[in-house]
Amino acid sequence: MRRLVRRLIAAISVLLSLTGLPYAVYLLLAKVWNPQGSPAEKRPAEPAVSIVLPTYNEERIIENKLEDIVALDYPMDRVEVVIVDSSDDGTRETIRTFFADRETPELTLIEEDERRGLAPALNDAYAEASNEMVVKTDCDSKLAPDALREAAANLADPDVGAVTGRNVDVLGGSDVEESYRDVQATIQTLESHLDSTLIFHGPFSAFENDEIVPIDPDSIADDTELALKIRKGGKRAVFDPAIQYKEASHSEFGKRRTQKDRRAMGLIRLLLRNRDMLGGYGLYGRVVLPFNWWFMLVSPWLLAGGIALATVAGLLAGGVFGVAVPAGVGLFTLLGSRDRLGPLQPIYAVFDTQVSLLFAAIKLCRGEGSAIWDVDEELRDAYE
Ligand code: GDD
Ligand code: MN
Repeated sequence: MRRLVRRLIAAISVLLSLTGLPYAVYLLLAKVWNPQGSPAEKRPAEPAVSIVLPTYNEERIIENKLEDIVALDYPMDRVEVVIVDSSDDGTRETIRTFFADRETPELTLIEEDERRGLAPALNDAYAEASNEMVVKTDCDSKLAPDALREAAANLADPDVGAVTGRNVDVLGGSDVEESYRDVQATIQTLESHLDSTLIFHGPFSAFENDEIVPIDPDSIADDTELALKIRKGGKRAVFDPAIQYKEASHSEFGKRRTQKDRRAMGLIRLLLRNRDMLGGYGLYGRVVLPFNWWFMLVSPWLLAGGIALATVAGLLAGGVFGVAVPAGVGLFTLLGSRDRLGPLQPIYAVFDTQVSLLFAAIKLCRGEGSAIWDVDEELRDAYE
């Protein structure tokens, strides 16, 4: 019995250290090398811009979003707004009224009779976008006034075909999301300096129009998919923390699952579909993709396995210890989701992401992962 427990504990230690290893290497590299900002050779530029905005029943917040867009520090006569709307509420009416007595920016409104999901809607919008730089932004986000300029400066580097930005302020005050975004910014900066980053963010993603290719109609990771395909085409896709936006998020465990699990499903499916890119495409396929494969597809299972084994070991060693492990994990989750873990909060944030990735893998196996989802009404409160 003792030997079994000892073996189990050894197995757990191996599993848990394996889980953390690539992460530790990445963060160590970030510490030692300490890359900062965008790797692009930024130059001031003022290309004509198409802002692509998909909307589904956003009547509560669409007007504020449009105000936000026209207030950007950019010549509005060089901006075209392409909205693809699938709403059956008052969104369309508000859009028309907003642009009715405005000469600039120009509006292209694509009206869908029936909601087909975000990816096909975006493909239509990208096909209509006629300007050199295309910026995709979600309705539930706020952009910093200089966001377009910062993006244009990145795309002025001939090697760069896509750029995304940083969530500087998590509306709704979710510390879980806030601390995760800090960890993520460090990682995405490192990846960008190595070659390109994987994840692109819905609130702000900018692409060179010439590089845009259609995304899969069932995609639930549209921005990341487009960035990955642009990298496939040869240009770099980078993260620039100088491009700033705000987005709302929940801290509570249950509420986080819906959105995060869906996003995680999108990312896992994208990696699997593009597995042929592993090993090619410079350091992108040799370091960045393998790290993300590990983080998204392997480590959630090692972590779950580690916790399960620890529980079994505890039960074998003596009943109370067996209960201690799941109880500890439960307490960690409870405190973490209430933003009460202080300096441990970033670790909880990563754990929370691993939970989403685990659930996402299971949901994908069960055939879930529809490209049509319920828009989170509660998160919209922050934009009213
Ligand atoms: N036209 C259209 N049709 N727009 C849609 C649809 C649709 O079926 N579904 C959602 N939208 C719009 C919303 O109105 C919003 O402006 C934007 O797409 C993002 O939708 P959210 O409901 O806020 O999704 P999210 O916050 O989880 O979005 C993130 O994840 C998605 C993938 O799971 C973003 O990164 C999205 O860009 C990403 O596609
Ligand atoms: Mn959203």
